[in-house]
This record gives sequence, C-alpha cells and structure tokens, in this order.
Amino acid sequence: MVDVEIRELMQPFVLSDYQVQEVYTRFCSETAKGLRRSTHEQASTKCFPTYVQDLPTGDEMGKYLALDLGGTNFRVLLVTLKGHHDATVESQIYPVPKDLMTGPGVELFDHIADCLAKFVAKHDMHNAYLPLGFTFSFPCVQVGLKEAMLTRWTKGFSCAGVEGHDVGLMLHDAIQRRGDAEIAVVALLNDTTGTLMSCAHRNPECRVGVIVGTGCNACYVEQVENVELLDPNFKGSRKQVIVNVEWGAFGENGQLDFVRTDYDREVDRKSINRSEQLFEKMTSGMYLGELVRLVLLRALERNKIFKQCTKRAAFVAVLQNNVDIFETKHLSEIEDDSFPEFPSTRRIVKQLFGLEKASVEDCQKLKYICECVARRAATLVAIGISGLINKINDRKVVVGMDGSVYRFHPKFDSYIREMMQKLVKPDKEFDIMLSEDGSGRGAALVAAVASKMK
Ligand code: BGC
Repeated sequence: MVDVEIRELMQPFVLSDYQVQEVYTRFCSETAKGLRRSTHEQASTKCFPTYVQDLPTGDEMGKYLALDLGGTNFRVLLVTLKGHHDATVESQIYPVPKDLMTGPGVELFDHIADCLAKFVAKHDMHNAYLPLGFTFSFPCVQVGLKEAMLTRWTKGFSCAGVEGHDVGLMLHDAIQRRGDAEIAVVALLNDTTGTLMSCAHRNPECRVGVIVGTGCNACYVEQVENVELLDPNFKGSRKQVIVNVEWGAFGENGQLDFVRTDYDREVDRKSINRSEQLFEKMTSGMYLGELVRLVLLRALERNKIFKQCTKRAAFVAVLQNNVDIFETKHLSEIEDDSFPEFPSTRRIVKQLFGLEKASVEDCQKLKYICECVARRAATLVAIGISGLINKINDRKVVVGMDGSVYRFHPKFDSYIREMMQKLVKPDKEFDIMLSEDGSGRGAALVAAVASKMK
C-alpha cells in the first residue's frame, strides 16, 4: 500500500467513472465530426479516408519493398508474400540523424533514397522491378492510394518544405535524382493501416489497427456511405474503406482540458508542436517518461519521496536539468519490478540520478507513480478503441495492436482490456492481437492490393 501523500499527488491521473464516460462521449462525437464534410474542418480527429478498401484474403503473392518512417527507427524491408496467410520479411534499420529530423525535407528524402539504394544493392536487386509500399506514419490527406499530402509533422520531426506536399512524389523524386534503381512507389500508408492489414492477413475478423509507440493513433474499417470525404468514384465498387482516425490530435479543441493535469500542460509547453497532438501527449512513448520525470520532481520538491536521501539537492538538479532523462522504457521496467527487492528500480535510480540506497517505500512510491501514468494512458487508448468497436456493425471485432509501449510495457495490455470490458457494448465480443511487423507486411499487402487494382 502506498502512502496517502503519494496517492494525493497522483489523484489527477486517476480518471473517475464520470470522466471516462465523458471522454468516451466526446471522442465519439469528435470522430463523427471528422467523417462529415461540413464539420471536418473543425474536428480534431480528422478521420482521413486511406483509399485502402480491400482487406487481404491471405492468398497474396509476390515480392515487395517497404519503407517504414515515423517510429523509433527508419527501416527498409523486403517482403515476400507467399499465399496461405504466410510471408517472410528481411529488413535493415538505418538511423535517422537528429538534424535530418528537423532539417530541410529534401535532405530527409535523399537520405531515405540513399538507404533504399544501399538495401537494393545489398540484396542484389538492381535489375528487378519492385513495387514499393511506403509506411509514412504522420497525418496525411490522401486522394488515392499513392498520393498523400502531409498535413503536419508530429513526434519530433519538423523538416521544412514537406507539409502540404505529396510525400509519395517527394520520395519518387529523390529516387529519380539518384537514378540507380527501378522502384515504383505504388502505395502510401499509415502505420495503423499497416497494422490492421497485417493482422487481417492472419485473422479476417480484424477491423481496427492501433499503434501505441512513439506516437499514438488508430484506424478502422468504416462503411463508405459514412465517409463523406471519400472521392465518390471510390464508393461504387466497394462497401468499405479504412479510415485513419488520427486520434493523437484529439483534445485540440479543448475536449480534454477537464482531465489534463499541470504536468500535461508542461509537457506540451516544452514540445516543438505546442497545442498539438494533446491525446498523443497523454498516451504515447515519446511523452510518458517525461510525465513521470515531472511528477517525480514535484514529489521531491514537496518532500514526498526519497525523504531520507542525503544527496537531495543533486538529485533535484539532475531531474530539473535533464528533460527526457526518464524514458518510457524505464517506466516499463519499474512496473515489472519485484517487491521487495526492486532490483531494476534501484539500478535505474542509481544510473540516472546517482542514488545509492533507495528504500523499499521509495521504490513502491516510484512504482505507483509509473503505474498511474501508464494506467491513464491505457485507459484513454481503451476509450478510443471501444468507441471504434461500438461503431462497427460486426458482432465480433479483433483489434490489431503494435508499438513499443504496447509491446514492452508489462501491464499495458491488461489495463486496456480491463477498461474495454467496461466500455464495449455487452452484445459485442472483442479480442486484441499483436501485429507482426505491420509496417513491413502491411505495406506489402497494401502494395499488393494497389497492384491488383491496376
Ligand atoms: C501520427 C500518426 C501515427 C502515430 C503512430 C502520430 O504522431 O500522427 O499518423 O499513426 O503517430 O506512429
């Protein structure tokens, strides 16, 4: 049992039943606005049509290249779809230097084309004509499968000259500038779409794709008549289309102000995209560690934790002067730690803050802080997923999930399920499946669908 002082401190992170219901209602009404032409402009959740209308059958075959930009790493992949719901993936990670994330856009795309060329050379594919699917995990307006206009950067990217431009074309131009590979960009997709497609490849009941990683977002399968922004030419032959909700932006019209804390406001103030992606800033891996750092600092300043610690001033200084020192992976490790030894917690506070002897009580308190921050994130994600499931007509809905927070946090999945039990309509059944390489396999599947449509 953690002491009452820390409980009080964390109270703003504990959402009451009323708050949960209210966020749920607001989320549902915001997504409805995103879908409607007359209200789309005001909506924070843009609900962009992706133009992906065919879910995989499992019979898809062929070799495809895929690019994955927008998570922790940039990757190039070679995906072989083998039919029978089977695929193999070979991939290579290439770091994106920090200055490229904020420099001129053309340089970023030249770097991508450069990595792609190296990959093609390494796999001896110079002369093979290979279609490419580009998983570009940022909000885009799509006007077709391969035309995607970036609306805004998120997650620490801010390259000039890309917002408002067709990123498929920018990639195509960068490949042309090099002139050393025969590669056709046939599809642009969001990582949530990739996740949904790769899970649907295995399980045809999958209708929702969710990422809780560096960023946070979801997509789902919607009936075309509800997607007013979809070009009418795409409404005749297919009944459904995947919609990219872009729920990371939820809250930008003030809908989350009643649950946001001082810590959330501070995280936002210090970010490079102020007042944007407010739901994302409460749920994703880029921010959860920073929230814990701010809470811990407040707890120390108010003498609620590490009371006996002799080097308090130094500890406070380290916390104050090092934004992002506490990472989301630390939060996962601490929540996984065992009572009463707390080996990971003790190692982390020693490594980061130079604290030699953390007491059992202090470790318990820190664990509770981490738990409250992660549980609130999972609750918000569960609200979003439940809202989407309840909208979908099918009685059973499978949710494909991916992202570093979901994958590596020991309890995120159970926190989500616990909340979904309360929010998903009782006549519905749901399940969550972990995606296997959604950004790669998903991109290949969308590329395969695109080739079929030609
Ligand atoms: C982006 C989404 C993406 C999500 C997860 C967000 O910042 O806006 O497009 O799906 O991150 O990567």
